[in-house]
Amino acid sequence: MTDALGLDSLGLRFREALQSMYAGEPQIGTAGRQHPIDDSTRISVEEGMTLFSLCVANGVTSTLEVGLAYGFSTVYLLAALERNGGGTHTAIDPLQEIDWDGIGSTTASRLVSGSTVLTSGSFVLVEERSDPALSDLERAGQAFGLTFIDGYHRFDDVLVDFTLSARMCPVGGMIVLHDMWLDSISAVAAFIRNNRPDFVEIITGCDNLFAVRRIDDDRRDWRHFVDFPRG
Ligand SMILES: C[S@@+](CC[C@H](N)C(=O)[O-])C[C@H]1O[C@@H](n2cnc3c(N)ncnc32)[C@H](O)[C@@H]1O
Repeated sequence: MTDALGLDSLGLRFREALQSMYAGEPQIGTAGRQHPIDDSTRISVEEGMTLFSLCVANGVTSTLEVGLAYGFSTVYLLAALERNGGGTHTAIDPLQEIDWDGIGSTTASRLVSGSTVLTSGSFVLVEERSDPALSDLERAGQAFGLTFIDGYHRFDDVLVDFTLSARMCPVGGMIVLHDMWLDSISAVAAFIRNNRPDFVEIITGCDNLFAVRRIDDDRRDWRHFVDFPRG
């Protein structure tokens, strides 16, 4: 049966999880308890399907996200990893338990354990602020084919998230920012367009996302700075 939301290309379990979440049904969190969810903390189906398609089209097997919450974006990214034959998704969120009752991580763990392709190591939660967490991941030698940044949305926090994530983005890898409707995020995008020649923009057709692909090493010298009018 055709899915009214447009989730047809996802595997059945991922589709069913998202249908329940978008319908606003209570979700299971820590200790198996059901919790109501609000409808303001989510990515849209269009945004989620764009993340899914970018991962599938590029054969990505290692994904990272800043900001888990109820786990909408996580479900799309896990669906892509399953489609690609397996991989690992790492989610950073210091408030997963405190603000979100563990719903995002519970959903991800359930989807991973019910998969014949994904394994128990396919979902990793880092319950810490993104700046130390990203530094630790870099120190551990991690690399990610796609990073989705949807955490604390202030300009300086997101620029730090991008800068640290870029160090773990190999040539060919992608970084996607959410919420281009915010001045803070469009300012980070303007900075990247003007100051990071090692990245090129990917046109996704999704106005609320800013996606870039790494095409080179960071070769800027220590004096480098280009002003970045936002237009
Ligand atoms: C808009 S929500 C993420 C929504 C999620 N991507 C989705 O599609 O369902 C933002 C998340 O960022 C988390 N967050 C806030 N401060 C953070 C920080 N310093 N580092 C990482 N995550 C943070 C919040 O706890 C919240 O879960």
